Amino acid sequence: MKALVLSGGAGTRLRPITHTSAKQLVPVANKAVLFYGLESIAEAGITDVGMIVGDTAAEIEEAVGDGSQFGLKVTYIPQERPLGLAHAVLIARDYLGDDDFVMYLGDNFIVGGITGLVDEFRSNRPDAQILLTRVADPRAFGVAELDPSGQVIGLEEKPDRPKSDLALVGVYLFTPLIHDAVRAIEPSWRGELEITHAIQHLIDSRADVRCTVITGYWKDTGNVGDMLEVNRMVLEGMDRRIDGEVDAASETIGRVVVEEGARIIDSRIVGPAVIGSGTVIRNSYVGPFTSIAENCRVTDSEVEFSIVLRDSSIQGVGRIESSLIGRHVEVTPAPSVPSAHRLVLGDHSKVQITS
Ligand code: TTP
Repeated sequence: MKALVLSGGAGTRLRPITHTSAKQLVPVANKAVLFYGLESIAEAGITDVGMIVGDTAAEIEEAVGDGSQFGLKVTYIPQERPLGLAHAVLIARDYLGDDDFVMYLGDNFIVGGITGLVDEFRSNRPDAQILLTRVADPRAFGVAELDPSGQVIGLEEKPDRPKSDLALVGVYLFTPLIHDAVRAIEPSWRGELEITHAIQHLIDSRADVRCTVITGYWKDTGNVGDMLEVNRMVLEGMDRRIDGEVDAASETIGRVVVEEGARIIDSRIVGPAVIGSGTVIRNSYVGPFTSIAENCRVTDSEVEFSIVLRDSSIQGVGRIESSLIGRHVEVTPAPSVPSAHRLVLGDHSKVQITS
């Protein structure tokens, strides 16, 4: 059995971060989202991984390499444009050969891994197996309709009037029968080859498509709110560990991780929170559910419920919360007089200013 991991895509919902970097590499508790997925694939006993990459191929390849750090053998499959999840299967045909495979969306986060699911698929071997979870608003997802016996009878992509609250989770198990289906379908109105259409094609041709409704935690980290939520959840499961320096005037409360080479000076850190190596927190407060990556500077400020990527600095700005801050960002106070805002903002930035 192989894995097909999708790490291309446009990432429009995470702009401007995704203008310069891959959304699958945004860190959760200071580790790339994609790495959690690769670890669960390795745990499930799969070693051969085909990785679909797009515009951010160089960055993904630099982070993942040949996959040996995860015990995997990674082969890169370039996708010229994000033409859909079923298009990714189409271009991976030669790599996948006649093997069964698990398709894993590189920005999805599933707690508890996929070992149980992969084992179940291996022993029952239906033609395809999909995962579903109940969501409050299914309109943004692929949605499944089940008959009273729990059999999948229909799938719809982002429907206006969903027939159930069961959304498709970003992990799919396929036999080679899916290759006929992805060749048979036409692009949707949004110009993509939809995996939901390919699975619907399997259902229509009376293939055995099974579903498992998962109750555990799943998130598509496509937008900032979900990203912060996954970060919160992962931090909650961490143990306290102080490997860096905390001076006598500072306080660390609860599940706080201070990596080796990090320094906490005259500050208060309330967990769960993680401070990356080389980062200096000075005269500041870092509150719960915050991940600050490597080589950052936080001075005379407060940060809570936020993710700060590496090499950024936050200085003298009071309180920051519910924020996702990219790499090499500088956040500084505006001069109070004259009262005008000086901004250098990337495309699609979102800024809130009190005038
Ligand atoms: P999506 O989140 O559905 O799409 P996207 O990355 O284009 O993001 P947005 O909606 O914010 O513009 O993609 C799910 C995962 O699959 C994600 O990791 C990107 C990847 N992907 C591909 O590799 N190729 C594709 O053609 C598509 C559509 C997605």
